[in-house]
Amino acid sequence: MECHHRHPLLTALESAHMSHEIAVIPGDGIGQEVTPAALEVLEALDLDFEFVTADAGDETAAETGEALPQETYALAASADATLFGAAGKTAADVILPLREAVDSFVNVRPARAYPGVDALRPETDLVFLRENTEGVYAGHEDRLSEDLSTLTRVVTDSASRQLGRFACEYVEDRGIESFTVAHKANVMRETDGRFRDAVVDVADGRGVETEEVLMDAFATHVCLDPTQFDVVVCPNLAGDVLSDLAAGLVGGLGLLPSANLGAERGLFEPVHGTAPDIAGEGVANPSAAILSGAMLLEFLGYDAEAESVQTATEAVLEAGPRTADLGGSATTDEVTAAIVDRL
Ligand code: NAI
Ligand code: MG
Repeated sequence: MECHHRHPLLTALESAHMSHEIAVIPGDGIGQEVTPAALEVLEALDLDFEFVTADAGDETAAETGEALPQETYALAASADATLFGAAGKTAADVILPLREAVDSFVNVRPARAYPGVDALRPETDLVFLRENTEGVYAGHEDRLSEDLSTLTRVVTDSASRQLGRFACEYVEDRGIESFTVAHKANVMRETDGRFRDAVVDVADGRGVETEEVLMDAFATHVCLDPTQFDVVVCPNLAGDVLSDLAAGLVGGLGLLPSANLGAERGLFEPVHGTAPDIAGEGVANPSAAILSGAMLLEFLGYDAEAESVQTATEAVLEAGPRTADLGGSATTDEVTAAIVDRL
């Protein structure tokens, strides 16, 4: 099986399976249901992991006045990896600092259609490598007058090159010959021009081929024929929007995992939020959280275990039991138990 999310920077760790501390931050809503499910799967592997659970999110804010307590931030900043669920209204106050705590420069978002799941485009198999620190999400917004607000878009050569190096290692590691750079450098000539030039220059220097696509055209092409693309490198906002678009092609939010990677740490989380419409009912699809757990395993060098979790999850997606979002009537616990059984 091809795994689309191995962390190439950490190959050195692979032979050194030392003890790892894993921070577990379930957060709010279905985060409280799917994170324990992912934890159950990781625990079933019986690895030398020490799990430390910490609080964050709306409920924590209501109780303590802080959505992200200092202890939780410090835990994520020191743990080898963090498993995160979702936060509600306080999501931006929780997830943005947590990504910073793990020094994440790239958000890896695989969007893949699985056999047995009703998808708009069953042939979809994409991975977005999204710049994770700058662009229009750098936080420089101003109200200049009653009539005028502005946003400063930040693009650095260093962050763009770091993403470019990661993309090269990512494709080289998987035997893929090229990657796509999605941008809008025809309009944002300075910022996206810099982004594009830096990423392409890094790839040229390493002999990795790149194709460029304007991000608006990409949105159309990926809907019409997702097989044209494989690994797609994007600036921050484009990666956010285009990967959610791809989620729509593969059958929904209950399926999409993600990894926020830094050089030394990572934070792994489903792409979905707290799902207030179903929270507390025990019927959330745990697949996205469990597949995020598989990405965590791969990051720490447990490739065989990552593949087992991926394979077991895919087998249950195909054969059932399934949760309601996929047309079934199983509970989160039943799906989780079926995945653990197959491990
Ligand atoms: P959402 O992802 O929570 O839910 C969107 C729809 O997808 C809902 O109908 C929900 O039931 C369904 N859904 C999502 N995950 C599912 C799963 N695992 N199984 C079955 N169905 C699932 O997005 P929404 O409703 O826009 O946001 C709800 C809250 O989550 C908001 O407060 C938002 O701020 C927060 N949020 C947090 C994120 C994070 O912590 N990283 C990311 C996105 C939203
Ligand atoms: Mg998003």
